[in-house]
Amino acid sequence: MTHPFSNATAARDIAFHVHSQTNPRLFEEQGPLIVTRGEGTRIYDAAGKEYIDAMAGLWCASLGFSNARLATAAAAQYSQLGFYHTFFHRTGDAVASLAEKLVDLTGMIGGKAYFATSGSEANETMVKLAWVYHTVRGKPTKRKIIARDRAFHGSTIAAASMCGLEFMHREFGLPLPGFVHAAAPYPYRGMVEGESEAAFAQRLADDLERQIVQEGPDSIAAFIAEPIYAGGGIIVPPRAYFPKIQAVLEKYDILCLDDEIVCGFGRTGAWFGKDTVGMKPQMMALAKGLSSGHFPISAVVMAPEIYEALRSFNANGGNFGHGFTNSGHPVGVAVASEAIRIYEELDIVGHVDRMGARLRSHFDAIAKSSDLVGEVRGAGLMLGIELVADKPGRKPFAPERKVGAMFDRIAYDNGLVTRCMGDVLGFSPPLIVSEADVDHIAERFERSLRDLERYVLQG
Ligand SMILES: Cc1ncc(COP(=O)(O)O)c(C=O)c1O
Repeated sequence: MTHPFSNATAARDIAFHVHSQTNPRLFEEQGPLIVTRGEGTRIYDAAGKEYIDAMAGLWCASLGFSNARLATAAAAQYSQLGFYHTFFHRTGDAVASLAEKLVDLTGMIGGKAYFATSGSEANETMVKLAWVYHTVRGKPTKRKIIARDRAFHGSTIAAASMCGLEFMHREFGLPLPGFVHAAAPYPYRGMVEGESEAAFAQRLADDLERQIVQEGPDSIAAFIAEPIYAGGGIIVPPRAYFPKIQAVLEKYDILCLDDEIVCGFGRTGAWFGKDTVGMKPQMMALAKGLSSGHFPISAVVMAPEIYEALRSFNANGGNFGHGFTNSGHPVGVAVASEAIRIYEELDIVGHVDRMGARLRSHFDAIAKSSDLVGEVRGAGLMLGIELVADKPGRKPFAPERKVGAMFDRIAYDNGLVTRCMGDVLGFSPPLIVSEADVDHIAERFERSLRDLERYVLQG
């Protein structure tokens, strides 16, 4: 992508703009990557160079970067009603229909949907609803949230507290009290020698139970998890993990909150990640793929008992004391509804299954021929490749070598956008990738890996 100082955009950006998840000094030295245009699965920089974005931006542009139908849906809504809200009983046909559609798609029988504008807000909404739920049932001391090591749940204060990543905490003195973390179900790094996946899952469930007893079951409201970890390194739990974990949660009356913000809407080869991993949540947070990233809209879908708690808490006439200006924004609703229509028309789940299997088989073949690839893992079009210094010993590279970050830079040069999470390379391309796109990703990946091998060998 275009580099620094060479144009006015870069200079202005450096002068005035603060970037998310970016080192300030490095940014001042190196400047921005200027992205000017998108077309299908491709993005283009200011110099006209083409990249296949194998991360769908931030795991979200499922229909690519220039979907004409989404543009038309947004434009039509803007000209009919460019803003309205959903406070104080307000609604419209599209927002009611989208709520119905989300309840139906998620299989949350008898449930309801609530709208917000970001994944973080959706996750925080689930936490507040969990508190109301327990309060109404006479258990107001149940307040703590158990999240997991390596989790990513967002950047607002409670969502960041639920993250299990040090880089989300260290500047801000987080996590807040009352947000605790359980071990990550990370087979490649967590299973001990000779242990089966089932035994590993049982050990994690036993550890969780011990943690709950230690914290005090009466102090714990909910457990939150991504079905498959995204930003923590594309980690797929063992098959038995969620059933065993959920038995423990039920025993201690702890709600299960499902962060589907990345996994939802086909990403894992099922409509929702919960179905890929056998999770049975009482609430689900949806965002990103909900609108194919084309509008900031998110939702919480809740089981009937959660809504019932909200209703009975306010039986004296009080309002649900929560809401965002843009909850149920009409343009967001129009874009999300159109995105879901397109997913259904394309049979996106079947398509992801086929394209995911094709990408996986390319990666498996390339992995066999590289000493740097320790593991290929994932589901559907959410794949991770863990780079290692010593393959048989699963020995990681020293973090200061920043091998994953080096791969990202090499891949950019080769026209491929990936996302390193430490030394795990993430692949989460637009779900509309064609066979040719998948083959291009694999070719550019292989070329970049060979370049990385040369760099690593040079020490
Ligand atoms: C799993 C997961 N949850 C929550 C979030 C937060 O979403 P947002 O950035 O829209 O607040 C993200 C963002 O990447 C995510 O990956």
